[in-house]
Amino acid sequence: MLEKLTQSLIFILPAYFANGAPVVGVKLIGRSTPLDRGAMAWDGRRILGDGKTLEGLLIGMTVGSLAGLIIHAIAPELYRSWLEPLILSAGAMAGDILGSFIKRRFGLERGRPAPGLDQLGFLGFALLFSALAFGPPRWLDAPTLIFLAAVTAILHIGTNYLAYVLGLKSEPY
Ligand code: CTP
Ligand code: MG
Repeated sequence: MLEKLTQSLIFILPAYFANGAPVVGVKLIGRSTPLDRGAMAWDGRRILGDGKTLEGLLIGMTVGSLAGLIIHAIAPELYRSWLEPLILSAGAMAGDILGSFIKRRFGLERGRPAPGLDQLGFLGFALLFSALAFGPPRWLDAPTLIFLAAVTAILHIGTNYLAYVLGLKSEPY
C-alpha cells in the first residue's frame, strides 16, 4: 500500500512541475503572450484569459518534462517510456487550459477560484493522457487515486498560498 502511494506521488511529479513552473517562470521572464491573443468567445468573454500564456505553456512543458526525464533516469521502472513524462506534462497543461476555458464560460474572471477544478483539473488530464497512451499505471486503484487527489489538492492550495506570500501571484489560489 505505502509503496503504491509513494509510486503514485513520484509518477505524477512531472504534472506538478508543469503546473507550478509557469507561475515562477512567467514572472521571471517578465513578458507574456496570452494563448488566446486577447480574443473573445461567442459569449463575449475571453476564450482563456491572460492567465494562460504561450511562455507559461512552454515553460511548463519544459520543466515538467525535464523533471520527469531525471526521475526516469533514476527510477527507470516507474514510467512505461521516456515519453511518459512529456505526456504527463502535456496533459497537465491541457487540463489547466481547459479549466480556464470552462471558468471563462461560467463568467469567472481570470484568477477567480474554481474549487476542485483549479486543484484537480490538471491532475485528471495528466492521468487521462498517460492512460490513453500507455494504459492505466500499475499503481492505480481507487484508494491510491483518492489519496493522490487529496494530496494534490492540499499541495496546490499550499503552494499557491506560498506563491502569493512570495509575491509571485496576486491571489492566494
Ligand atoms: N501561467 C501562464 N501560462 C499558463 C499557465 C499559467 O502564464 N499556461 C501563469 C500565469 O501567470 C497565471 C499563473 O501562472 O496567472 C497561475 O496560473 P493559474 O492559477 O492557472 O491561472 P490564473 O491566473 O488563476 O487564471 P485562471 O482563472 O484562468 O485559472
Ligand atoms: Mg488560479
